[in-house]
Amino acid sequence: MAETRLRVLVIGCGIAGLTAAIHAWRRGHQVTVVTKTDDPAESNSSYAQGGIVYRGHEDSPELLVKDILEASDGMALPEAARIVAEEGPEALQEVLLDWAKVPFERDRAGDLQFGEEAAHSRRRILYSADQTGRAITRALLAFLKKKTEIRLLPNEVAVEIITAPHHSRNPLDVYRRPFCLGAYLHHTRDQKVRAVFADRVVLATGGIGQMFRHTTNPEGATGDGVALAWRAGCRVVNMEYTQFHPTTLAMPGSGNFLISEAVRGEGAILLNHAGKDFTKAYDRRGSLAPRDTVSRAIFTELERTGREHVLLSLDRISPATIRKRFPTILRKCLEFKIDITREAIPVTPAFHFSCGGVLTDMDGQTTLPNLYAVGECACTGLHGANRLASTSLLEGVVFGRRVAAHLCRSDFLARPFEKSIQGWEDHGLHSSHDPILVRQDWMTLKNTMWNYVGILRTRSRMKRALETLKDLKNQVDHFYWNVKVHREMLELRNAIQAALLITNSALKNRVSRGCHTVLRERS
Ligand code: SIN
Repeated sequence: MAETRLRVLVIGCGIAGLTAAIHAWRRGHQVTVVTKTDDPAESNSSYAQGGIVYRGHEDSPELLVKDILEASDGMALPEAARIVAEEGPEALQEVLLDWAKVPFERDRAGDLQFGEEAAHSRRRILYSADQTGRAITRALLAFLKKKTEIRLLPNEVAVEIITAPHHSRNPLDVYRRPFCLGAYLHHTRDQKVRAVFADRVVLATGGIGQMFRHTTNPEGATGDGVALAWRAGCRVVNMEYTQFHPTTLAMPGSGNFLISEAVRGEGAILLNHAGKDFTKAYDRRGSLAPRDTVSRAIFTELERTGREHVLLSLDRISPATIRKRFPTILRKCLEFKIDITREAIPVTPAFHFSCGGVLTDMDGQTTLPNLYAVGECACTGLHGANRLASTSLLEGVVFGRRVAAHLCRSDFLARPFEKSIQGWEDHGLHSSHDPILVRQDWMTLKNTMWNYVGILRTRSRMKRALETLKDLKNQVDHFYWNVKVHREMLELRNAIQAALLITNSALKNRVSRGCHTVLRERS
């Protein structure tokens, strides 16, 4: 049992949030997990197809650290890489294998099978066909639901992190160092906002992809964690390192369905319409080069040829392997009349992962006391300027456990200050928002980010984006203060804030590195 039983509020329930919640509960804390979705399984983690890094045969922490640092283009924090490489296997074994019993692929003897992905020097990826994220999320949720002491509340959207002095009625609190006391949560069913106090808050809100026209991320990936933390005064770093996945299905109506990197790991190669393996001209590793390199190669090829997609040839993978290893991708492509056991897949890059986020230390602490961040919304430094495939789920497992272990080590208890915090004042004058305006703002945001702050950037494009985003922010802030709180408005406001953080960071950083490429402009 923990020395002090803390009230822990976890915002988000992908792999990072669930891991933190389970460990915190095991340490005796009173844990509440909230998610803005109706279905808790609907998180970014569920969409990770490829897998999660473990330790392969003839593998070592040193080899994994080397691969992470290389893929990161020299920007990963070596300490974060070492922690993940050393603690990863044990952390994964404990929560995913021993407790949640995730059905990873095994051979007949019951031994775990390892997949390969780009820029890994060993086969070391655990997988569950091509739905690894979904298998993990389901198993963790099933485990958590049996622990009735952990409260799991759907349909709760975080509006703001409660901080003193900002939300305090005591004017003398202005002399204190700011700290976190909980969150204002909006319930999407009864449309009410309430203050939920907590001794520790863990942000685990996932990704940001919805701000881009093309993304592999689900609808809920609206940059909430980054925006909430930024407004609460936290440091947010590395936001310019936006990772684009090289291979998503390029068919109208397919919504950039992810074609897992594991497909290339098993032998698929990228070809242009002349049948040439063009990626070799960019990196000797060709289709198995790090993601940033492959995405840039494809994008450049598309610009050069004026085509809408390149081709992913699975000729080197047997139909039996395709059926067993990639059943979901096979099914999805068949919906578009593409039989991947016989034909190449038309693919194009799309936004996939934010390497930057809310700055944390190696225990997941943000720069605001009592507020932690974990998973994609956090920046531990692990991914540097470009993330190595299949490390994101592992980061959630390792740092979720570290966050839970640290909760009691920080001795700052905010409870005495709660009575000074003001309740939520519904400032909205109008009861409803105009959905057409919201939809148009989303379209402007998505097009601006895709065209001007996308795979290849120029300073002129980014400056143009900044002007548009500032204007959008003004408009949406105006709505925010005049319309009753609702989920669509909160998400749009957060996404615009996160987009501004990306664009400002991208403009300030003149060095092309990893996922941030600034082209020199013709004078
Ligand atoms: C993939 O399967 O290619 C995505 C997994 C990841 O982002 O690491």
